[in-house]
Amino acid sequence: MYGQTVQGSEFTALSSRFRDGIGRSILHLVETTSTMDVAKAMIDHSTDITGLHGKVIIAEKQQRGRGRFGRRWFSYDGEDILMSAVVCPRASLTGQLSIMAGLAAALTVDEFTTTRSAIKWPNDVQVDGAKVCGVLSEGFTSGDTFAGVLGIGLNVNSRHDTDATRVFNSVSLRQLRPPNPMLDRGEVLRVMLTHMNDLYDALDRGESILPEWRDRLETLGREVELTMMGAGDASVSEKIIGVAEDVDDFGRLLVREPSGIVRAVATGDVTARSGRNG
Ligand code: BTN
Repeated sequence: MYGQTVQGSEFTALSSRFRDGIGRSILHLVETTSTMDVAKAMIDHSTDITGLHGKVIIAEKQQRGRGRFGRRWFSYDGEDILMSAVVCPRASLTGQLSIMAGLAAALTVDEFTTTRSAIKWPNDVQVDGAKVCGVLSEGFTSGDTFAGVLGIGLNVNSRHDTDATRVFNSVSLRQLRPPNPMLDRGEVLRVMLTHMNDLYDALDRGESILPEWRDRLETLGREVELTMMGAGDASVSEKIIGVAEDVDDFGRLLVREPSGIVRAVATGDVTARSGRNG
């Protein structure tokens, strides 16, 4: 229904490990427009969206992979992890889902590298300033039920060292591991889903994952230019400049403007104008 699936998939085989959790069902597609579209179609066709909780869609190739603010997400066919997870939490947890995904990705990256990854607010995972993973979260409601779709693009085996790719300042796990052997993507996905489930369970028990996420935010203490774009329409934007002082309990970035006013920003694109603490 959603396209041709990968036969004998190493990803699909992982689903038995995650019982009722995220990854309990894994659809591994050869090609699709975007795994976000597939997740959205599943939600649209479902009469009970809570029944989709834990479904993961992975594609070897995306024709129109997308990033935040409607940007394109370029990836390398068959080399990276391109996934969307459907998560249906209780209402109080909805605001924490993208933090959960970003932190899970950062913890995953750390298991395959020797350096500690950082998070560029809100959820770009970086190693030494280069982006290794991006997170796109979308939310849908049906009646009073909410479904979040967490899209994760993790560069695993692709190479980002050509002139064409250098402009994105991106990197892959493989490149971060001299002498650059290919990684087992099934193993990377297993680690990612394990972290997602551990963090989700912590949230479900009422624990906060915010301090651990905050601790990795490389954005804090920097002077930043923050562009706030209209949802889905990058042409409508407002810019503010200030010092990214902290985040609040909702993960919003607290930016002190030159006037002294502190603005709480829920979504936007950050460019650093200085190193940490000026
Ligand atoms: C960003 O950094 O802007 C977020 C990038 C998210 C990319 C992933 S790849 C899998 C999923 N499908 C998409 O089309 N986008 C997300």
